[in-house]
Amino acid sequence: MSNWTKSDWRAKPRIQMPDYTDAAALNAVEAQLSEYPPLVFAGEARTLKKHLADASRGDAFLLQGGDCAEAFDQFSADGIRDTFKVMLQMAMVLTYGAKVPVVKLGRMAGQFAKPRSAPTETIDGIELPSFRGDIINELAFTPEARIPDPKKMLQAYTQAAATLNLLRAFSTGGFADMNRVHSWTLGFAEGSEAQKYVEIANRIQDSIDFMAAAGINHDTTHEFTTVEFYTSHESLLLEYEEALTRLDTTSGKWLAGSGHMIWIGDRTRQPDGAHVNFASGVQNPIGLKCGPSMTSDDLKALMATLNPENEAGRLTLIARFGAGSVGEHLPRLINTVREEGANVTWVCDPMHGNTIKSTSGYKTRPFESVLREVREFFGVHNAEGTVPGGVHFEMTGQDVTECTGGVRAVTDENLSDRYHTACDPRLNASQSLELAFLVAEELSELRTQRAGLRAAS
Ligand code: PEP
Ligand code: CO
Repeated sequence: MSNWTKSDWRAKPRIQMPDYTDAAALNAVEAQLSEYPPLVFAGEARTLKKHLADASRGDAFLLQGGDCAEAFDQFSADGIRDTFKVMLQMAMVLTYGAKVPVVKLGRMAGQFAKPRSAPTETIDGIELPSFRGDIINELAFTPEARIPDPKKMLQAYTQAAATLNLLRAFSTGGFADMNRVHSWTLGFAEGSEAQKYVEIANRIQDSIDFMAAAGINHDTTHEFTTVEFYTSHESLLLEYEEALTRLDTTSGKWLAGSGHMIWIGDRTRQPDGAHVNFASGVQNPIGLKCGPSMTSDDLKALMATLNPENEAGRLTLIARFGAGSVGEHLPRLINTVREEGANVTWVCDPMHGNTIKSTSGYKTRPFESVLREVREFFGVHNAEGTVPGGVHFEMTGQDVTECTGGVRAVTDENLSDRYHTACDPRLNASQSLELAFLVAEELSELRTQRAGLRAAS
């Protein structure tokens, strides 16, 4: 948008954002953040956009994953390393199984602010404002902890910068070298999916040995020794986003400097609202969560506002309808996209439509429902002749017990063992890998079928 400015959102209706009580403190933090370096470079965001354009055509596949909410008290090198590792393993399974390049995008280095289903929370008759993520207030159930504190934005920035620094070091410093494919297996990984991964790793090692024997130098080839890893988060706390927005001198366009991709949540996607206005003016690739209440008219308006030039890779539609509901909603939205002739990348988030309360009282997601939604997503694209461009998971490399099911079955009773999430329940490493095998299977079937159709015609 040509006359857009980074503070235009302030004149639009806003929801799901805190009312800071101390305006002076807020202004001071915003001023400080505005002077800090951005976390990402515009050229990187443009490269990611190209990869997402590839994914929209079926020439690449997006793997987006990480915590529901990053937490200040769970910030550690091991945590970052383990999630990075599992994503590398999953990407390897997908690349190997489906023969397609995988775009790796963390829900990391900025995923701190959370939309909530209710503004307040009541426990034992006491009502307090809801917890909105570590960048805003604190989880502890006391009136003081729930007061939004703008200074938390500075801590979030610092944590995001350090996280991104480590991710960049892992990506290019030798950790992600394909010659080390065996070493990415996690210490506690066992069971059939870990075994299946080791088999793939063996075959990759074989191919590498073959190339070495044939004189191809895999030790120094860039594609073998490094990976591209990008970051993303929900663009919810617009004071933080605005303060990190910079004019990119190369393109003359604005960049949200807080991460490579930002997305708009299912609760804050009002076409005339603050969050859509902010995203419309920055050049980053934009994700848009699409839940059951997304109407065709909403989607039309949103595509027009967020991607007026119909640029491929700019807009990723993240479908999150819930198992059993994909068939009701995805075809009608695919139809809208078709009618508009719009370029979009379709991605499946099988997490947010499948959250339930377990009998033991924990918020959980049955692995079966997650699997089922992924299958339904592929089924609809198969029937419509459209492209499933990627998946979006809440997951961790830690051996947590937050989602039930999987081959190393987590039961309702197990949930309390290692339930550590700061918000929604995440897939653990084993469940994540199991899912990657399923996605690889679906993807390779679809590709074989379509290649067959092309050959026959
Ligand atoms: C999320 O991704 O954590 C989230 C809140 O998703 P949604 O907006 O789709 O509910
Ligand atoms: Co979530």
